[in-house]
Amino acid sequence: MSKPRVWISRPFFPDIVDRLREHFEVTQEAEERAYTPVELVAHLKDADAAIIGLADRIDADILRHTPKLRFVANTGVGYNNLDLAALTEAGVGASNTPDVLNETVADYAWALMLAAARRVGEAERWLRAGQWKGSRFEGWLGADVHGKTIGILGMGRIGQAIARRASGFRSPVIYHNRSRLDAAIEKECGATYVDKATLLAQADHLVLVLPFTPANRHSIGAAELKAMKPTATLTNIARGGIVDDEALARALADGEIAAAALDVFEGEPQVHPDLLEQDNVVLSPHIASASRDTRRDMASLAVDNVLAAFGHGPCAGRPPTILNPGVLADAS
Ligand code: DGY
Repeated sequence: MSKPRVWISRPFFPDIVDRLREHFEVTQEAEERAYTPVELVAHLKDADAAIIGLADRIDADILRHTPKLRFVANTGVGYNNLDLAALTEAGVGASNTPDVLNETVADYAWALMLAAARRVGEAERWLRAGQWKGSRFEGWLGADVHGKTIGILGMGRIGQAIARRASGFRSPVIYHNRSRLDAAIEKECGATYVDKATLLAQADHLVLVLPFTPANRHSIGAAELKAMKPTATLTNIARGGIVDDEALARALADGEIAAAALDVFEGEPQVHPDLLEQDNVVLSPHIASASRDTRRDMASLAVDNVLAAFGHGPCAGRPPTILNPGVLADAS
């Protein structure tokens, strides 16, 4: 009997991909790029499983043309590129990569927050441009992070990992979330629950860790930016579209907030041209989870999910991070 086919939309870690080969015929793309829906269908129409990235959008229109497809493993914790209802309706299992990246993303949130507060990007660009001619005692004055109030909007596991790091900085943490955390977790994270208006008004450094949903689009827009302190920074490591990038560029230009740091953008890899004009914003290309170890762990978890969905490996029949487990129950 021929092996099921798995399509992998981009290159990664050959030794991890090799774990699939005993059970699957593997096709892996040699370069990473965004696929059009037509190209996705061409790749997926004969596939039984796929391992994809956040730029690969799987929706009902694609699924209409992929009758063999049984499982899609997303290599990211956020899965707004998947229409989960359509996948479930089509009987296709889907998984993401939660938890393995929490600490790495939390490290990066702090890196960006610190870089924005202390103007690291601006200063480096200035130095590289050959402008450092002598000392400037009052130059490059940024904001402290230690001892300042860290605000977190969205307090899932990554938000909690960000909060835990604040104790080393002696920084109080306030947070807002759809639902309040258990008292024990609040205590462990040293975090105090506040409403969104208080969060915006009191945070010295605000970090966004919300999942993207249509309801969360532009959760931070012109009104929210106006409600922040003029000395505050804003860091977005969550998803593009949570911030209204145009309103943010305006707020940065008008001094409504001091600085921002963004790893994600609405419509990425395009970046709003007004943001590119601003010096007081740190911009990075969606790399919060990109440490060597964590990207390996994410790839490995995606492979484990595919193996398990087809009855292989230690979790046979129970993909460890399946998002729609009912699909497998229905199939059995
Ligand atoms: C995720 O996993 O959702 C991250 O955004 C990837 O860096």
